[in-house]
Amino acid sequence: MADVNVQKRQLRAAGVVPVLTIERTEDAVPVAKALTDGGLRVLEVTLRTACALDAIKEISNSGLDVLVGAGTITCESDVGSALKYGAQFLVPPATPAFLLSELAAFPGLVVPGIATPTEALSLYDHGFDVVKFFPAEPYGGASTLKALSAPLPNISFMPTGGVSFEKLPSYLKLPNVAAAGGSWLATPADIQAGNWARITELAQEASDLVKSLRPG
Ligand code: 3PG
Repeated sequence: MADVNVQKRQLRAAGVVPVLTIERTEDAVPVAKALTDGGLRVLEVTLRTACALDAIKEISNSGLDVLVGAGTITCESDVGSALKYGAQFLVPPATPAFLLSELAAFPGLVVPGIATPTEALSLYDHGFDVVKFFPAEPYGGASTLKALSAPLPNISFMPTGGVSFEKLPSYLKLPNVAAAGGSWLATPADIQAGNWARITELAQEASDLVKSLRPG
């Protein structure tokens, strides 16, 4: 497991995190390859399907230069399962008290879900300084994160939920945004149809935008 600070740098360097819902284990490596071919190297696999853990394991063992994490962590046992199957980081959509001790014990990066300043500050007090702002667009999107930057200067955010390519610049221009997450890069429909070239194209488009907005 890479050092957490290294993972935080990888997250910021990626700028965009594809959120994947994979229905067939055999799609895991091809979709990861399609995304890395497009320049995106930090991927979140949601624990919403029967094969999600196997998909994480396949990607983790694939030899691809990729950081694979588990999303939709909603109970304590998800944390141990994700670790066992090779997840290097975790992204819970929300962070109730019953998850805190398991999350704090995870050896990699944890990006816990928040929707309010109180939740963000409470998690910062527990040692989490990169949090997932979810669901980002319904909760005010980039203008909410801009408003949070002055009172919460030490917290970085990963907005996810309703983010699109068109909305990316509004997030990536904010210094307190580590990366934005979204499913538009590899939708369940494109994954099931094996549209790997399209997925690479969308990843390349996003990765080029990150480079143009965050040079160096
Ligand atoms: C999710 O809940 O699936 C993620 O937050 C991604 O949301 P999106 O589909 O709106 O990008």
